[in-house]
Amino acid sequence: MTSSESKSECFVYITLPRETTSVTAGRFVHTTDKRGVSTGKFAYGKSYLSRNNAVEIDPIDLKLGSATYQSARLGGVFGSLRDAGPDFWGRRLIERHSGKLGLSEVDYLLESPDDRAGALGFGLNQGPPAPLRDFNKTIQLERLQTIAQKVVREQLTESTHEAIQVQELLLIGTSMGGARPKAVVEDDLGLWIAKFPREDDRWNNPRVEHAMLELARLCGINAARSRVENVGGKDVLLVQRFDREKVSRGYFRARMFSGLTLLRAEESPLQTNNWSYVILAEQLRRIVAEPKRDAAELFRRMCFNALISNIDDHPRNHAFIAFDKEWRLSPAYDLTPSPAVSRERRDLAMDCGDLGRYANAKNLLSQSSRFLVRQDQAREVISVMADQVRSKWHGVARAQGVSEPDAKTISGAFVYGGFEL
Ligand SMILES: Nc1ncnc2c1ncn2[C@@H]1O[C@H](COP(=O)(O)OP(=O)(O)O)[C@@H](O)[C@H]1O
Ligand SMILES: [Mg+2]
Repeated sequence: MTSSESKSECFVYITLPRETTSVTAGRFVHTTDKRGVSTGKFAYGKSYLSRNNAVEIDPIDLKLGSATYQSARLGGVFGSLRDAGPDFWGRRLIERHSGKLGLSEVDYLLESPDDRAGALGFGLNQGPPAPLRDFNKTIQLERLQTIAQKVVREQLTESTHEAIQVQELLLIGTSMGGARPKAVVEDDLGLWIAKFPREDDRWNNPRVEHAMLELARLCGINAARSRVENVGGKDVLLVQRFDREKVSRGYFRARMFSGLTLLRAEESPLQTNNWSYVILAEQLRRIVAEPKRDAAELFRRMCFNALISNIDDHPRNHAFIAFDKEWRLSPAYDLTPSPAVSRERRDLAMDCGDLGRYANAKNLLSQSSRFLVRQDQAREVISVMADQVRSKWHGVARAQGVSEPDAKTISGAFVYGGFEL
């Protein structure tokens, strides 16, 4: 092997439907060759395949079967495994914690805690570890927020005390994806993702995101449940996890993968071919239990994102879950308005019709049949939702504690001029 070649591997565990402990599903091997090209291989274990309750990790790249699967996309990490790993925020913490740069993709999977999204786990032992039981509680939010803030400010020194704090933060969960500072916390109802404010936020993000989830629900969208808590004078958004269900003996875990995985797309904003709601709708129709329901729901979300100028609606901000055998579109999450873009033309992160990403009613209508929505129904959805967003966004925002100055700052996001051109 030359110095640039490398190989790492791990076992992949899965919590089966209606179980609270995991079993070993298979083995993942990641190699990088001399040219720096990475490839991943995955094979289900024989004993896993012989279980009568075995389920597929995903219905795209890793269907149940005895083949050895291979992939070179996403740096050689199968989409659904990558979806179970940390993103920008989690990677940053793991690097701090390990003190190493240049961790391998397998290192990121192994170093991240097991409160990750979905039903998968990773480890070096053939048998899975015991399930995580000690989650941080919502009452510890203030402390978590202080540590998260230090990480954002890069203020953590190398002192042992600080290092221990980062370790604690890691233990409580940053496997969740995304770029914003967050942690996983528990209360009597179950698990929540705590999304902390950042000092460079232009408005009260937690309250605004909470208001957008409420507004989406008013517009008939199945949105994640959320609430805002004030800790130490700062608002923190708590989004209830839709991939966990609390039961007396622990947690049921839904399998989960992102829109990026379903699209077989790359995640770099420089390689966005296939980033498309239309393709996502066609792909979801092949894999969900109720294509008509979920495709129409995706259509509504696309319209809603256009109406609130949520231009951060990239394929990782869409997901699919399965508590049992059958897959469905997950509740909507990570909804953010963007007021500071052109008044005439705004583009979503994904194609939404014949005119590409243009957040415009005609464009949204142009491919409605691919979402199994008739033209007349699609027109109705758009006009009713535009009225709702226009007339309700301000009231909802204020009712959820968004200040009047913040409401003014975000006002340009709603039903912008180019939407109905
Ligand atoms: N309510 C939820 N339940 C389960 N997983 C979620 C939920 N909300 C978000 N996620 C997962 O966590 C990731 C990060 O959350 P997100 O709200 O998108 O954060 P960010 O604003 O940092 O992108 C998402 O990409 C998704 O995989
Ligand atoms: Mg996100």
